Amino acid sequence: MTELETTSEIWKTIAGMDSTVRAPKVMLPEIARRRIYSQPYSRDKMFIEMAKRRPAIFRDVPVFAKGKKGMESKDALIRTLSTKFPKGELSNVQVGPTRIPRRLPVTEIMRRWEGQRAIVGVTDLHIRGTKVEDVIDTKALSDFNVLIRGTYNLSTQEMMTLVIASPGNVTDSHSDDPDGTNHCFFGKKVWLVWETFEGIEAGLEDVERQDVYDAAKFNMTKYMSLPSARWFVVSTGDTLSLPSNMTHKVFTLDYYIGVGSFHVGLPGSIDNLSRWIYHGPLWSLADRKGENVELVDEIARICLRTARRARDGSPGMQERWGYSYLRDGYKHWARNTSTTIKKQVLKHLDFREFVELASNA
Ligand SMILES: [Fe+2]
Repeated sequence: MTELETTSEIWKTIAGMDSTVRAPKVMLPEIARRRIYSQPYSRDKMFIEMAKRRPAIFRDVPVFAKGKKGMESKDALIRTLSTKFPKGELSNVQVGPTRIPRRLPVTEIMRRWEGQRAIVGVTDLHIRGTKVEDVIDTKALSDFNVLIRGTYNLSTQEMMTLVIASPGNVTDSHSDDPDGTNHCFFGKKVWLVWETFEGIEAGLEDVERQDVYDAAKFNMTKYMSLPSARWFVVSTGDTLSLPSNMTHKVFTLDYYIGVGSFHVGLPGSIDNLSRWIYHGPLWSLADRKGENVELVDEIARICLRTARRARDGSPGMQERWGYSYLRDGYKHWARNTSTTIKKQVLKHLDFREFVELASNA
């Protein structure tokens, strides 16, 4: 199949799940041009993409289900995972083609997924600190995360989640904070992504940033008008690295099981902090009690402290924190941020000091 034919097939499939993504034939060549393909993984490449705030898909990231023999099949993996959750553990799940939000026992969700009877979608089943960590090793995707150096409140923002979905499941346009990775053990998903505020300005809604009562407004002409609009397929063995400034709409094509993690790494930290100081982070939009108000200040301090230690530390330490990509992150931010926003966010003293350090890194 040619690239155009493949594009046409994939877009026909997702339009069958959601008619707002139906693409007229004339749009297909431009859609094909916007596809991102997977590339072989290296830590340096991942840091470069993070610094430039670009989504990237990597092959052969060393993430694995360890310990148990026979976890190569998806049924075996899911059975092993089911035994790692406490019996009564509940999780949020979208059920059925109409995506009704419910709370069900994890074991029941996995039974439905395994039995291939009902469409399910779980994206926020937390596994940090649970026994699931005994069998999944994601060190390659989290050991550069500065959040692990923070207080309890901060370290709870550093999450690992199990992602379980059946074909037909659609996740409506939303964004996540902070940056994240998604490793796919088995399955296939199609992701449509775009820069959140560019999208909002053009009329594409984001359920995390805006009050949306039904489905987030989406329109193909508007989507394709965005310079930041990209799409890609994540399938078995792939790992997606997604900066938090990208809103996404996701379609599950094949039975999917994966692990997601959220992090702040030095390469993307300037852009993240700038956005949080100016627009507010997503976790504080949902935080009515105001418990997370101090977190941005704390993250700015930790980034500054980590960057200083790396600057004065060994090459090994610099490599671990991605210190040599901090300057790329700074340059990207300096080029792509308006003067108004820069002026406003540089009033934050720790951030300002961090920016100065990054510009000389
Ligand atoms: Fe997401």
